[in-house]
Amino acid sequence: MHEESLLRTEIAGVDLREIARKFGTPCYLYDESMIERRIKDLSAFPVVRYAQKACSNLAILDLMHHRGVEVDAVSAGEIHRALLAGYLPSQIVYTADIFDHEALDLVVQHDIRVNCGSPDMISQFGARKPGGEVTLRLNPGFGHGHSQKTNTGGESSKHGIWHEQLLDCRRIAEEYEVKITGLHMHIGSGTDFEHLSHVCQAMEKAADVVANTIKIISAGGGLPVPYKAGEARIDLGAYAQLWLKTKESLERRLGRPVQLEVEPGRYLVAEAGHLLCEIRAIKRVGAHTFYLVNAGFNNLARPVMYGAYHPMTICPTHEESTEEQEVVVGGPLCESGDIFTQREGGFVDTRMLPKARVGDLLTIHCAGAYGFAMSSNYNSMPMAAEVLIRDGSPILVRKRQTFSDLVAGEVIPHRDEVSTH
Ligand code: LLP
Repeated sequence: MHEESLLRTEIAGVDLREIARKFGTPCYLYDESMIERRIKDLSAFPVVRYAQKACSNLAILDLMHHRGVEVDAVSAGEIHRALLAGYLPSQIVYTADIFDHEALDLVVQHDIRVNCGSPDMISQFGARKPGGEVTLRLNPGFGHGHSQKTNTGGESSKHGIWHEQLLDCRRIAEEYEVKITGLHMHIGSGTDFEHLSHVCQAMEKAADVVANTIKIISAGGGLPVPYKAGEARIDLGAYAQLWLKTKESLERRLGRPVQLEVEPGRYLVAEAGHLLCEIRAIKRVGAHTFYLVNAGFNNLARPVMYGAYHPMTICPTHEESTEEQEVVVGGPLCESGDIFTQREGGFVDTRMLPKARVGDLLTIHCAGAYGFAMSSNYNSMPMAAEVLIRDGSPILVRKRQTFSDLVAGEVIPHRDEVSTH
């Protein structure tokens, strides 16, 4: 991330004070032009498939769709979103380790491509759709991620089909008359070039087992973004070259074309997203100064979950201070862990930020991926608004939840009409 100054009053040409006045805080802002730039970065890949789990707002899906980006779905709900956003079933892939009943119904009904992460998925799909095609998500025996919690390969990961089980999968596929048409690997999120490049070799090895039916290979996602100032950006040219070579080598062996896909979530949206909140209290506790803001881990869980670092800046609403101080930034939740400045393991950290006053705005940057998408209603906090900035204009793309949204669907047995189903 490149927030050189710790004071920032605008994003994509829009004044943050105006956003706060118009839409309230906390709210998520997405800079459309940044997403477009990130899509262009990946143009060497013939198919870019957006892992919508990173940020699945319909406006973002619509944007991806109109820019030629296909989509991945991990649940029936994500399939529903993709269809609503205008994706054709043929542009959607369902990748998961299980089918819940709704997801299995939907993929069969709409003829959506399935990427199986367990042998059971092959038989369950085959039982419903003999003659159908599947791709396999493999666990190559190793993985890597920005945190152990985002490592999706190796023996401790629940994800994917273990690489030594490929022959069993072939047998299951034959039994259920299912064709294995592709291989996919995703070894983790926010990982580095070195680990990502090992996947190519593992893919070639796996292809030996199922090669004659392969039409598609997917490099998965996991591309890192620089969260901290000075962190290097991944060499996408070199990454694409490696995969194009793997594709060509497979094509030579098979004597026919193979489609290459990449499946990023974070890379496309992380840097475009910002969480805007307001400082509601500033207090000293022992040696620490706390800035307490009106967003918590209900809005952005990454610091609590992984000790993730997010850049922060202050937008003054009074006069601006050039002085900085070391602070802890926390949220409103009744949880000691509701701290945005922390390291993995829950250790509270501090951050240099400009001296601020209550009422000033604080923006948490690089929050577009796994930000709103992982938010919750904990402590009965309504979910934040989401705003897309298009050509210098802010557009509300999700209303802040109301108190009635919070209790929608709940029933008081002696007062409301009770359903026994
Ligand atoms: N494909 C598959 C099969 C995945 O499981 C994932 C992420 C992706 C693609 C996209 O990964 P990305 O390019 O976004 O790294 N909540 C965590 C990340 C969990 C990602 C889970 N799967 C975080 O905030 O870092």
